Amino acid sequence: MRKLKICVLPGDGIGPEIMEEAIRVMRAVEKKTRRFQAELKEAPVGGASIDRYGVPLRDDVLELAKSSDAVLLGAVGGPRWEGLDYSVRPERALLALRKELGLFANLRPARIYTPLIDASTLKREVIEGVDIMVVRELTGGIYFGTPRGIESLPDGTQRGVNTLVYTTTEVERIARVAFEVARKRRKKVTSVDKANVLEATELWRRVVTEVSREYPDVELVHMYVDNCAMQVIRDPRQFDVIVTTNMFGDIISDEVSMLTGSIGMLPSASLGDNRRAMYEPIHGSAPDIAGRGVANPLAMILSVAMMLRHSFGLDEDARMIENAVEKTLASGYRTPDIYSPGTTKVGTKEMADRVIENL
Ligand code: IPM
Ligand code: MG
Repeated sequence: MRKLKICVLPGDGIGPEIMEEAIRVMRAVEKKTRRFQAELKEAPVGGASIDRYGVPLRDDVLELAKSSDAVLLGAVGGPRWEGLDYSVRPERALLALRKELGLFANLRPARIYTPLIDASTLKREVIEGVDIMVVRELTGGIYFGTPRGIESLPDGTQRGVNTLVYTTTEVERIARVAFEVARKRRKKVTSVDKANVLEATELWRRVVTEVSREYPDVELVHMYVDNCAMQVIRDPRQFDVIVTTNMFGDIISDEVSMLTGSIGMLPSASLGDNRRAMYEPIHGSAPDIAGRGVANPLAMILSVAMMLRHSFGLDEDARMIENAVEKTLASGYRTPDIYSPGTTKVGTKEMADRVIENL
């Protein structure tokens, strides 16, 4: 039996609630298949860590993450900490984990579950069969570029600065991930940039084109981000793999999630060159519904499935979870975010219960 050392970082808002359920599902799989034994170490990050220790990510928590086989993260942030300096905001924990673990490739799969088609705000004809993988660059771009900050000007006003920067190496490695992923899918990569205005993404376009020569079997399409935002809604089926910068990926993946009915459905995997990896839902901490037991745990549960597959090669165990989620949705169980008339509304816990029953 394989021992898996997993670092569990529930974070803030709905983070702890959905994490608890995802772990319950993982334990149920563990018991059923007996193919692995998960050794969990939990620690506070984000606002939870700020409240107790004054910093969003303690060094020993970062070390714990680094020495684990995989990291599971719930969500960080909330209005309580919004006034703080950027260097100690909850989000810093997440950004530092991504950067320090070298997790430059963020895979955000969006597929439509047939029973959820009517939960989307888009028409059935538009979204039926949609299956998109957003490959978001995660450790570069405007999120990390310097100079950055807010400075005071002599006239008493202020100036806010962020810098969009990409190097050839950074673009090459994320492009390779995208082409490799596309090879195992429908062999199409759409690279999203703003090359008509931003030099950094003109370089992005050139490098992606260069890398594409190594993948003659994969079709490459370049698209400006404004057009992409429109095309994703107009005709989402044209997309297979979307590869893009850190910030565009942040935005486009939220947009793509709405095709699936709710942002509460999308898991993600953040991977690096080494074996390190972090798994987290793409949604945030949803402070407005936190503590009410109504959050959708499926993105977190599906993130556990991604972990079992990508970090541990436990394909069958991952499938088991994904099939159970599908079955649960097919039986009509819905958290409020994906509810539609004629289905059965359930809370966070009961949704996980139903998934466990269906394993
Ligand atoms: C995401 C989130 C984060 C991001 C925030 C919480 C820092 O929106 O994972 O998409 O912007 O990357
Ligand atoms: Mg986001």
